[in-house]
Amino acid sequence: MADLCPFFVLPVELRLHIYSFAVLDDPSITIGTAELIGSHPDIVHRLYGGKRSPYPGIPEHHEPVVEAGFNASLLSATNPATIQLSQVAPLSDDESHEYAHTAHLALLLVNKQVNTELKSHFKISKNRQTSLFLAYPHGLHVCRTLTPHLLRQARSVHVAGTYVSRTFCPIRSACVGPREPAPALPKCNGGVTPNSTKQLADLIASAFGPGATHDVQKLELRTYYPGEDSYSTVWGDDDSPTVVALRNIYCGEVGIEVWRGRHGTGVYLTARHIGDGEKKRIVSTTWRRLEEGGRNGPKCGSWIVDPRWPEWDQGYTMSDGPKGDLIIHRPHHPAGRAPQVL
Ligand SMILES: *[C@@H]1O[C@H](CO)[C@@H](O)[C@H](O)[C@H]1NC(C)=O
Ligand SMILES: *[C@@H]1O[C@H](CO)[C@@H](O)[C@H](O)[C@H]1NC(C)=O
Repeated sequence: MADLCPFFVLPVELRLHIYSFAVLDDPSITIGTAELIGSHPDIVHRLYGGKRSPYPGIPEHHEPVVEAGFNASLLSATNPATIQLSQVAPLSDDESHEYAHTAHLALLLVNKQVNTELKSHFKISKNRQTSLFLAYPHGLHVCRTLTPHLLRQARSVHVAGTYVSRTFCPIRSACVGPREPAPALPKCNGGVTPNSTKQLADLIASAFGPGATHDVQKLELRTYYPGEDSYSTVWGDDDSPTVVALRNIYCGEVGIEVWRGRHGTGVYLTARHIGDGEKKRIVSTTWRRLEEGGRNGPKCGSWIVDPRWPEWDQGYTMSDGPKGDLIIHRPHHPAGRAPQVL
């Protein structure tokens, strides 16, 4: 069929030019998952109709969503995105969840030739404008497995999510092997449990590691650690996203804001490259009070979605907050360990 399509008679340069319009048309892309809401038969049809099967490695009854534009609910744990099946047209039997969500994805799926051209010949534009917003951990998994190419065109990467340790015991301040009772992992499709630590490490190393391959101008990582005793998990757990980030940022300027609250701890970490390609790392840390819960406060954990998004600064701008915070600058902070002081 492809032989008959006039599109493929065009010179490849022209085709690549056309692709660029489709691929670079959105300033922001949000990747997460959404829970399917509807009657049992509707959900079963949506997941298993035609030749479909649920997307592996995300929670049951969820669908991956790669959305053009910024979508806070795809990132939010307190007001999460859902897909109301009664309100959307049912998928026909030959549609899969991999269709539809972005122009880029749609193009990738047109046929093998377009797919190959996009993946291998497509010159990375110098004017990349895309900001990639990823829900941690499931949106990160979807990005790594379904749309890894989106990273190549990202000017900034923003990750937001909640982290619950499975091995770290805050009372003993030590990793104790699988915790008893360990918090239940959400059951994932296809029996696949993604290694989120590795996925995050790879993403950060690809932008800030010794052999960085992606020229990302800014990384933002907002992690919420639920629990009043969660502070030691931030620094003590090897799989804590904050520790994973520090372990994989080889050089650059890192700003860390630690938001301590009664119900949990939020860590806002930013990284950017230092001008002149200097090979050093500067880490500064600030502590703030996290006000959440209570009758009038924001919901616990809603902190992970930055109200400034999708706007972001190229430099490091501290969030608004009470004055008089402790700020520590640590040039040449040794890789691997985070500050323990408070
Ligand atoms: C965010 O994404 C969800 C899931 O795709 C969708 O239902 C919702 O309408 C989106 N919200 C906005 C504001 O676009
Ligand atoms: C995840 O990957 C890391 C790094 O490759 C590895 O050290 C760790 O054992 C893996 N975790 C699991 C649960 O497989």
